Amino acid sequence: MMRLDGKTALITGAARGIGLAFARAYVAEGARVAIADIDIGRARGAADEIGEGAIAVEMDVTSQSSIDTGVEAAVEGLGRIDILINNAAIFTAAPITEITREDYDRAFSVNVSGTLFTLQAVARHMIDRGIKGRIINMASQAGRRGEPLVAVYCSTKAAVISLTQSAGLNLISHGINVNAISPGVVDGEHWDGVDAFFAKYEGKAPGQKKAEVGVAVPFGRMGTADDLTGMAVFLASDEARYIVAQTYNVDGGQWMS
Ligand SMILES: NC(=O)c1ccc[n+]([C@@H]2O[C@H](COP(=O)([O-])OP(=O)(O)OC[C@H]3O[C@@H](n4cnc5c(N)ncnc54)[C@H](O)[C@@H]3O)[C@@H](O)[C@H]2O)c1
Repeated sequence: MMRLDGKTALITGAARGIGLAFARAYVAEGARVAIADIDIGRARGAADEIGEGAIAVEMDVTSQSSIDTGVEAAVEGLGRIDILINNAAIFTAAPITEITREDYDRAFSVNVSGTLFTLQAVARHMIDRGIKGRIINMASQAGRRGEPLVAVYCSTKAAVISLTQSAGLNLISHGINVNAISPGVVDGEHWDGVDAFFAKYEGKAPGQKKAEVGVAVPFGRMGTADDLTGMAVFLASDEARYIVAQTYNVDGGQWMS
């Protein structure tokens, strides 16, 4: 018996990285998934690669009409949505004196409003259909404490942890469990971008910051997307039915809370 047999999941930002690993793991556990991404070409490629069990859906989480049509397309393709993973996010970094309003607005629009209003659209669908669903938000160790060059991204992830608490407390009255996963440093294209920011602001050689953060993880290396799939499957499974409004660190020992 697979742990997500017959379930359906909408995963935002799943065309690559952690979201794509979640999509593969969910299908391996018997679920069907909608890979929702602003990069529809790559989302289609990912769905084709997974094959039966995956569909691609175009969704820009900064646009309410795109969220609405994306959720509709997922419901049409999958029949219903039992699980949502709010995974889409962008990273940005700058010293406080160089933060621009454009960067701030974009990061909050993807990471915070995108999470809240996708969660809202899917929660309405679950409540309308009487689905006792699961919602998982992607937080970050960056949401647990500030960092000198990462004020905006850290604030967005602190907001995701707070939203998870409020939405978790509100939606459990409908039988919908909302929780979050807080990764540490996970190798992939996202961290290639992070590395480039640190190369710019700390004068590091390309790849140097990545190497440094990997060594600093108590586990002894950076995480991989596959290190996170166990928690994502668990939180969507019946075994997690009594877990509400929590944010779990899956970070090789980076943070304790
Ligand atoms: N990689 C890490 O070290 C790390 C650490 C902590 C938390 N996280 C979080 O985990 C999640 C996944 O991270 P990742 O490393 O796979 O990131 P990634 O950058 O590799 O993938 C993000 C995906 O989101 C999509 N996306 C971006 N803007 C979008 C929008 N407006 N609408 C829809 N999709 C959009 C991108 O096209 C991409 O496919 C993110 O929430 C991230 O903040 C990552």
